[in-house]
Amino acid sequence: MEVSLFWIFFCLARAVLCFESYQSNIPNGNNVPHPCKPGSMWPGVGHKLAVGGKNRNYFGKDFESTGKMWTQTLCRKDSDGDGKTNGEELGDPNCIWSQGQLPEISKNITHPGVCEPWNHPRCQQQWKWLESECNKKEFVCDAISETGVQNMTVQFPESKIPPRETTYICVIFDLPQDNDYHLIATKPLIDNTNIVHHAVLFGCEDDVELEPIPTVCDMVPNPRCREILSTWTVGFSGDCVHNHTGFRIGINGYKRAALQFHWNNPALHSTYTDNSGLILYFTDDLRTHDAGILTVGANYLNIPPGVERTTYVSYCPAQCTDMFINDKVYIASANNHMHYLGVSQRIEQYRNGSRLQDITSETMYNYDNPKTFRYDKPIELFPGDTIKTTYVELEPIQTVCDMVPNPRCREMLSTWTVGFNGDCVHNHTGFRIGINGYKRAALQFHWNNPALHSTYTDNSGLILYFTDDLRTHDAGILTVGANYLNIPPGVERTTYVSYCPAQCTDMFINDKVYIASANNHMHYLGVSQRIEQYRNGSRLQDITSETMYNYDNPKTFRYDKPIELFPGDTIKTTCTYNSLSKNTTTYFGDSTTDEMCFGFITYFPKQNLNISLCTSWKSIPMCVIRSGQSYNGCYLQEFLKFSEARFMWLFNAVMEFCDKQCSTQCLEVVEEIETLPCLIGEFREYVKHFMEGSPQFREFFKIFENCLKIVESNNLSTGVYQNNDVSVLYILLIFFHAVLCFICN
Ligand SMILES: *[C@@H]1O[C@H](CO)[C@@H](O)[C@H](O)[C@H]1NC(C)=O
Ligand SMILES: *[C@@H]1O[C@H](CO)[C@@H](O)[C@H](O)[C@H]1NC(C)=O
Ligand SMILES: *[C@@H]1O[C@H](CO)[C@@H](O)[C@H](O)[C@H]1NC(C)=O
Ligand SMILES: *[C@@H]1O[C@H](CO)[C@@H](O)[C@H](O)[C@H]1NC(C)=O
Ligand SMILES: *[C@@H]1O[C@H](CO)[C@@H](O)[C@H](O)[C@H]1NC(C)=O
Ligand SMILES: *[C@@H]1O[C@H](CO)[C@@H](O)[C@H](O)[C@H]1NC(C)=O
Ligand SMILES: *[C@@H]1O[C@H](CO)[C@@H](O)[C@H](O)[C@H]1NC(C)=O
Ligand SMILES: *[C@@H]1O[C@H](CO)[C@@H](O)[C@H](O)[C@H]1NC(C)=O
Ligand SMILES: *[C@@H]1O[C@H](CO)[C@@H](O)[C@H](O)[C@H]1NC(C)=O
Repeated sequence: MEVSLFWIFFCLARAVLCFESYQSNIPNGNNVPHPCKPGSMWPGVGHKLAVGGKNRNYFGKDFESTGKMWTQTLCRKDSDGDGKTNGEELGDPNCIWSQGQLPEISKNITHPGVCEPWNHPRCQQQWKWLESECNKKEFVCDAISETGVQNMTVQFPESKIPPRETTYICVIFDLPQDNDYHLIATKPLIDNTNIVHHAVLFGCEDDVELEPIPTVCDMVPNPRCREILSTWTVGFSGDCVHNHTGFRIGINGYKRAALQFHWNNPALHSTYTDNSGLILYFTDDLRTHDAGILTVGANYLNIPPGVERTTYVSYCPAQCTDMFINDKVYIASANNHMHYLGVSQRIEQYRNGSRLQDITSETMYNYDNPKTFRYDKPIELFPGDTIKTTYVELEPIQTVCDMVPNPRCREMLSTWTVGFNGDCVHNHTGFRIGINGYKRAALQFHWNNPALHSTYTDNSGLILYFTDDLRTHDAGILTVGANYLNIPPGVERTTYVSYCPAQCTDMFINDKVYIASANNHMHYLGVSQRIEQYRNGSRLQDITSETMYNYDNPKTFRYDKPIELFPGDTIKTTCTYNSLSKNTTTYFGDSTTDEMCFGFITYFPKQNLNISLCTSWKSIPMCVIRSGQSYNGCYLQEFLKFSEARFMWLFNAVMEFCDKQCSTQCLEVVEEIETLPCLIGEFREYVKHFMEGSPQFREFFKIFENCLKIVESNNLSTGVYQNNDVSVLYILLIFFHAVLCFICN
């Protein structure tokens, strides 16, 4: 035994040494990806195991027969028989590489010794030996072969995988609704094992919108599909729910679900496709108990930047479990959920002050490797138990970040781009830092590595010059632009215009200010942006203008002779996007897949201008709204408190009179609502957008807008709805309101 172990170690050690020295005998020898483990490498290129070993693969055998040299013959041969020559696979398509040179191509390297895609039928002869690398365990779940168990396959149509490192792709679909069922198991159908990294099945609210076509989505497929029913990750063969229970679907359970796949394509292949899916097993022979999902954790997080460990603890305390747990429940399984900063999470159970056990515990949390904690012997949870959730979120000194390093670090103080030799602030002004200014800053570098070199390192930096001999004026940054974007997919030019209007500059500019510099800011769909200054109705000049905007080539517009900006001036921002590359609507937001339309204007003296944001939501200037003033007759800020009695009556009246059909009373109410300035045009859209999370308001707007269509299509001249004497109605409303309140109380 000891002898054989010794031999294994000996061989492994030898193999490692071998392939490391031979790697340099072939082009890109240290850069060959694993064909079925996204993101990992196959350093032992000539071997049947990624780590090397004594068995050689087809390429390894050919390599040996050429004397372990890269020859024309070896280069032109297709050792693994997948239709690409070894040279093409290793980035030397013209067979011109020799040892020590840079290969012609170092992107899209594929394995010369593994027929790819590895699971294609034409590659079957390698399946046996490839099993240990790309193994497929059989799914064992006795329940799925019980009588009465039905199945449903949700399979993505053959979809092109974007040449992007990370893509989340989702469908939202109907579950069977003809009966009462328990969902008892799921089994993955993974098509492109090169790319598919994990899958999650979420339960949705009943009336969430269906999304039958696979759509690029975020980590959560939809805010209304949050409850995790099942997870799959590389190496799993399927998910078998505890045999006492099932997730109720159908008539009395989830009616819709979302399926999310994570495609991981670090080599940015552009020809991959995938049609993976998931088989759902369910039965109408209901199990003893329905499974439910309880969400615990924190509603508030505030993670400072640049800190290695920030820990949040939150409780579902005894007072709560006492109140909502009627009788003992059993915990069958549990999942942690954080996003990319999360490093560890633990959920613990306490009873009467003492810790009983962990419900989950992950010390190496990884969003992309979801883990389900399953309990064959379920954990008992009693009324009065406490559930404690602890998260550790990590932001090391240097973190891979998004385009905006942090939503709370937005204001650009300085930019550098290739070709610049430094940034010299206008000599009348400076950015105040220290006691009375910025105390923290974020420095972002963009590393551009299209050749996907894996050996490069960097320790670039920035020298900041500052003085306590303060300049005449403090510099400030004013952000202008749009708070709302809705860019339809597949359109070459979508233009958004937004204003910081005279009403705003009048209010917040006390005295003349000088613009020293300005930056445009959009994300990757942005093609052109211009910020213009208007006074008394006529255009004065451009503050910025870029007809070839490029996020990765930031441009600062500097004015040695500063631009004067007066109270009453208007600043107009125009952004144009090209969405031909997108299949889904792009909205305003922070993440790279969202868009922005901001301008950052550096001005001085800071004390003459006392806000930092003058943006608009469609045409509604947020500055007016935030100041509590009215715009086109609407006091939006006040309105959004929904404390106005007239609105509340009308709201209740819509729910009361318009429920089944648009009765005559209903139409009168609708017309009455149309006279509220905050429910007209873009204000109505804003209120709708603002209240999207509230089911009552969604219902209200649905009913209201439905009946509004009837009002608008009926010619009022017919006289039917002309009775504008609403006082009787009001009395009725007050009556109903009173009845409703009586019932509620
Ligand atoms: C799904 O159900 C059908 C019909 O009962 C059965 O023939 C099929 O084998 C099942 N599929 C799977 C993957 O279990
Ligand atoms: C559940 O499975 C266990 C074994 O895993 C078995 O002993 C038990 O009888 C099963 N219970 C039901 C309700 O099927
Ligand atoms: C490699 O992939 C990139 C990104 O998908 C693509 O643009 C490029 O044409 C590919 N190169 C080769 C040589 O296939
Ligand atoms: C906690 O302790 C009290 C007093 O000893 C006991 O009555 C109660 O049942 C305990 N609670 C639980 C959930 O065990
Ligand atoms: C700023 O620089 C200009 C020349 O670029 C110079 O004329 C002026 O005096 C300087 N002003 C201050 C306050 O240093
Ligand atoms: C901004 O300036 C206006 C006009 O001078 C003033 O009414 C307002 O109070 C100021 N706001 C702040 C936050 O200083
Ligand atoms: C705009 O015009 C009015 C009337 O001519 C003038 O009083 C005002 O100063 C002008 N505004 C600016 C910012 O020049
Ligand atoms: C976008 O949708 C169209 C039609 O639905 C489809 O043909 C195309 O492949 C999709 N493109 C991407 C990148 O998903
Ligand atoms: C309303 O009446 C006008 C004039 O009588 C007519 O042209 C129009 O089509 C009518 N509209 C609807 C929606 O019935």
